[in-house]
Amino acid sequence: MAELPDARALPLDETTRAALAERGLEYRLIENERAAVMDEWSHAVRRGFAGPELSDAEIAEWREPMSWRRVTGVYDPSSPQAERPIATASSWVAPMTIPGGRLPSWAISTVTVAGTHRRRGVARALLEAELRDAHAAGVPAAGLTASEATIYGRYGFAPATRIAAWNVDCRRARWAGPEAPGRVQYLDREDAALLMGALHERTLAQRIGELPGWPRRWRGRLALAEDRNDAVRAVRYVDEAGEPRGVMAYLIEGDPEGDGGTLSIRYLVAEDDTALGALWRFAIEHDLVATATAPMRPVDEPLPWLLDDPRLAVSSVTDHGWLRILDVPAALEARGYAAPAALTLRVTDPLGYAEGTWRVEIAEGRATVAPTTGDPDVALSVIELSAAYLGGFPLAVLRAAGRVTGSAESVDALDAALRVPRAPFLSIVY
Ligand SMILES: CC(C)(COP(=O)(O)OP(=O)(O)OC[C@H]1O[C@@H](n2cnc3c(N)ncnc32)[C@H](O)[C@@H]1OP(=O)(O)O)[C@@H](O)C(=O)NCCC(=O)NCCS
Repeated sequence: MAELPDARALPLDETTRAALAERGLEYRLIENERAAVMDEWSHAVRRGFAGPELSDAEIAEWREPMSWRRVTGVYDPSSPQAERPIATASSWVAPMTIPGGRLPSWAISTVTVAGTHRRRGVARALLEAELRDAHAAGVPAAGLTASEATIYGRYGFAPATRIAAWNVDCRRARWAGPEAPGRVQYLDREDAALLMGALHERTLAQRIGELPGWPRRWRGRLALAEDRNDAVRAVRYVDEAGEPRGVMAYLIEGDPEGDGGTLSIRYLVAEDDTALGALWRFAIEHDLVATATAPMRPVDEPLPWLLDDPRLAVSSVTDHGWLRILDVPAALEARGYAAPAALTLRVTDPLGYAEGTWRVEIAEGRATVAPTTGDPDVALSVIELSAAYLGGFPLAVLRAAGRVTGSAESVDALDAALRVPRAPFLSIVY
């Protein structure tokens, strides 16, 4: 993959600046090297997500991840807190794992609008600017994780990866998986944060939909960055040669010495299946624990197959990583395919970026995509294309929901090409 564009290099979007100025608001590109400006911006983000004021230590943790992002804010000069933005957003270009490679994606984060300024089109102005910026930078897709599933479809985003919240009844569960030859060991949380980052980096290519993380992400999972909590603990799995292959942050809550505690896995990353099994086993067999939960794991976690009673591993599934294709030929030509196909694809896009009709020829695992005036075999909007792109949502299902048109044969052929061996998964919130 060519070098990724630096989102910070783009000028402020003029359309959005002018639209907000008409409403007496100032759209600003934040000089994120200026601590005082950034601190006010960070406080605004926290307020936007309904959290308490950030402490000095938390503010300090925020600076690093914002230093490499493009940070924007909207200011209301009439506010008594005029230096604190009434709306925030940040973005950067991240390499997203796709079948057979990585796709530059415009990651959008920290989108908030103050309660005093909600539902006046401020978020729309920001989101449309982000998409124009991404397009101007030549980035073929945008991504985000959504607080609510009803916000982003209007901009062409669709859920593309899912997460499962797993729950195990530890009192009844009996381990039926393989014996791991290595060992599980406690680890200092600072060391665990470093190991988490290293293992995430090493395993990035294994999961379609995954993005690189950054130190505060891991420190947050270990409750070192925000919401500090010394009850969070960390263990690692080392193989027979002593090489760390997995790490897990967890917290035991509830009533361990009474009805039994709940062990919540805050983050687990494993380089191989042995490490994954060993860390799950540690959680499930932990003394004084009645329930083990993991709120953000893959939908195809092998967990039920590791227990003698698979019904004791229960999962509930929700959308997680959202994707918005901006450049259809670039996105389709970037990924690998599981089967050949040849068809004409019609994509509609109210914002125009993905609009068009293309002849898609897939052979030997790669696609060539060229504009055509031919009749489409498959027609869909950018939302369905974005949902199906990583292989997590079959088009046949979207067709059954009346959201894709085309013959069953054409849709099935495209699904066969898009199919991926494991469920797409994004392990972080951003
Ligand atoms: C979500 C949020 C950013 C929306 O900001 P906003 O300025 O009120 O949104 P806008 O006025 O620009 O609304 C644009 C459109 O989105 C819709 N919309 C906005 N927030 C919505 C929500 N939470 N659920 C459903 N629709 C929503 C509006 O109805 C409007 O629809 P329309 O243009 O199709 O008529 C704001 O409510 C917020 O800060 N929420 C808390 C933080 C958060 O959840 N951020 C999202 C992080 S992923």
